Amino acid sequence: MTQTALAAVIVGVTLVAWALFMLYLRARPEAAPHVESSLMSPQSSTGAVPGTVIERSPRARRSGDDAAGVTRRQFINRAYFAAIAVGLLNFALASLDYLWPRGGGGLGSKITVGDAETMRSQLAQSRSPVFNVDGFFWLMVYEGQPAAAAKIPAYVTANTAQSGFVALYRKCVHLGCSVPFCDTSKWFECPCHGSKYSINGEYRSGPAPRSLDRFRVDIVGGKIVVDTSQVITGPPRGTVTGQPAPEGVHCVTISGA
Ligand code: FES
Repeated sequence: MTQTALAAVIVGVTLVAWALFMLYLRARPEAAPHVESSLMSPQSSTGAVPGTVIERSPRARRSGDDAAGVTRRQFINRAYFAAIAVGLLNFALASLDYLWPRGGGGLGSKITVGDAETMRSQLAQSRSPVFNVDGFFWLMVYEGQPAAAAKIPAYVTANTAQSGFVALYRKCVHLGCSVPFCDTSKWFECPCHGSKYSINGEYRSGPAPRSLDRFRVDIVGGKIVVDTSQVITGPPRGTVTGQPAPEGVHCVTISGA
């Protein structure tokens, strides 16, 4: 489910909950009749016999309340319902604000990273990915066989073979830790439980169930545009389209990983 759909569902459920709550309040049974136990005086205007117990129905009491203006009980009830309404509305708006994709950049939007040819030569020369703080992804030139990538659904959806770039979500697919890049091994190595991924984000070892998730990359007007509105599930374990071995010592060593 996309973030937009999730936001719409939360707002919808909140409004329905509020509507049901209001219906419940309107439909709940009337309170027991109020008993006035005061004894009537012989001069009572109602003409009741002295000692008679007078019962006033809720309707009669309400009309009496209206005649006297807003009672303290009505005021407290209305304030209570208003506070609940404001709380629910606040929750719905906060959810909407949090989940709605940003138009001006950031995770959930399309992020323009820079000039494609400039980035291509810089990244190929440094052989180190650059981290994009707005979109929480690592950007790297694709170091592998485009023909092999073109046969793997995750690579096709991420447009890796055509664009020549990979944009890897930095969240480890094991339990969600941030995954840094190790400059010596040229792998991504998770410090939490030791999962390791190649420079293309392909699974190599550790408890992670698959390769790193990624985002679609397009070249638009010569610029790199990364679409972070949808996280593309990483290729399965066993996917090897690039260099299979580390190029140096690992940064993270956890026994058993
Ligand atoms: S969270 Fe990365 S290996 Fe567990």
